[in-house]
Amino acid sequence: MKTVRIMCIGDLIGKTGINLFNKHIATLKKQYAADLIVVNGENSAPNGRGITSAIAEDLFEHGANVITGGNHSFDQKEVYEYLADLEKPIIRPANYPSGCPGKGFFIVRLASGKKLGVVNLQGRVYSRQLLECPFKILETMLTFLKSQTNLIIVDFHAEATSEKAGFAYSFDGKVSAIFGTHTHVQTSDERILPGGTAFITDIGMAGSLNSMIGMKKEPIIHNLRTQLPVKFEVDSQAPFVLSGILIELDQESGQTVSIERVFRVYQE
Ligand SMILES: [Fe+2]
Ligand SMILES: [Fe+2]
Repeated sequence: MKTVRIMCIGDLIGKTGINLFNKHIATLKKQYAADLIVVNGENSAPNGRGITSAIAEDLFEHGANVITGGNHSFDQKEVYEYLADLEKPIIRPANYPSGCPGKGFFIVRLASGKKLGVVNLQGRVYSRQLLECPFKILETMLTFLKSQTNLIIVDFHAEATSEKAGFAYSFDGKVSAIFGTHTHVQTSDERILPGGTAFITDIGMAGSLNSMIGMKKEPIIHNLRTQLPVKFEVDSQAPFVLSGILIELDQESGQTVSIERVFRVYQE
């Protein structure tokens, strides 16, 4: 059986996340015998909001094959033109209105010649409720994507565990894998669903371990206790966490062979 092994890494938080990715991804790729790296870059700008074209290029140079996004994809205006470049393997949620720059999926050509579709969608529960329905949008996208390949993975960027589960069960057997991002906290519910689709509620992040979603905790705690506005700042304190998943897909059937969590803590 010819398989492809894909490592998906959660949201990179500011410079801390980029440094972790750049420093460790080559070793992890080797250790897990991964063929491809998919990484969520929506928080990789210095302030944790959005991504720039220079950061994306840097991540590609260090081994990223596809960069996905989320609710922060449009925070840096500089990146709009770059997002819209069809040659660049950087995507943002497909269910934003049609006037938004960028694309919601990218097709990667594997070494075997087969194609892999990587899709990005955003949830609406406790999030942007005016986005188009991610269920309907994926159904529409699949009519095209299925004509190209049976290897399809989805970064479902969402807040609520219920929406993520409902989304995964709805597309069980229709795509190879659905992994959640956005909460920055890895869940331990990774499994292959009855129809054959791999699923995990959230793959986590790359950032400071003893932070809050990668940000310094003190201002956030102050806000929680007083309700006063505060400025979120990327935490750069060690130790660090870099987390994600490794999925293995059968290149012929598109079925998932395995899903495994990756969770590494680094002291520096
Ligand atoms: Fe995020
Ligand atoms: Fe997000």
